[in-house]
Amino acid sequence: MILLEVERLTKRFGGLLAVDRLDLTVRANEIVGLIGPNGAGKTTVFHLISGFHTPTGGTIRFKGHSLLGRRPHQICRLGLARTFQIVQPFAELSALENVMIGAFNRTGDVEHARRLASEVLEFVGLGGTRDAPARHLTLAQRKRLELARALATGPELLLLDEVMAGLNPAEIEHVIGLIRNIHARGVSLLIIEHVMQAAMALSHRLVVLHHGERIAEGAPDAVARDPRVVAAYLGSEETAP
Ligand SMILES: Nc1ncnc2c1ncn2[C@@H]1O[C@H](COP(=O)(O)OP(=O)(O)O)[C@@H](O)[C@H]1O
Ligand SMILES: [Mg+2]
Repeated sequence: MILLEVERLTKRFGGLLAVDRLDLTVRANEIVGLIGPNGAGKTTVFHLISGFHTPTGGTIRFKGHSLLGRRPHQICRLGLARTFQIVQPFAELSALENVMIGAFNRTGDVEHARRLASEVLEFVGLGGTRDAPARHLTLAQRKRLELARALATGPELLLLDEVMAGLNPAEIEHVIGLIRNIHARGVSLLIIEHVMQAAMALSHRLVVLHHGERIAEGAPDAVARDPRVVAAYLGSEETAP
């Protein structure tokens, strides 16, 4: 079953074509990796799917519903949640309160939201810091808090934007395990990942963006050997996959 179906998705910022007629699908129970050099348009694709930007052209369907014209909270209500590359928790609120805000997507009951948020914080390994103000958390903890906030909304499809950026190898291992556990709970994922080994290890399928265009798609090992993909990465400052 196809969960997310993006066709000819296009976003123009003035003279810049940030996303150029992108076709992309995510099926139920799939983990799809969206990769590509810096500036390729990956985050813009997430902004478009989640309703934070209006497409210049193309269509986006989730579970058969068109997402065009829907507000971010309405899209979240349909079961599509995302994390932000630049995490911005409410600094003065506790970790628990930050995650409760996500949980209010599913319930209007404060005690129920508190229980849901508590469970999700345990699940991501932040149970011990639930009462700490978000501004006291380390980067790795804030990344997990961002993940927890999105998870608490109860998504069927979760979009993760570079949740491993800036983390050390041990922290990356932990997040890879978490993503596997999230998937095992029946959540499908579309992940933007800069840490190539992680993208390769987690994804069933990779889609490669370059200058807003899809230049390759397929099984991770085949995509990593694709000459166009190697050239795109060598042409930038990034490490080849
Ligand atoms: N709000 C915006 N206004 C103008 N240009 C933007 C905006 N957001 C992104 N861009 C440009 O679009 C391109 C793609 O950016 P982005 O989607 O953030 O890439 P990625 O996430 O792949 O690094 C970049 O050239 C970026 O400068
Ligand atoms: Mg980005």
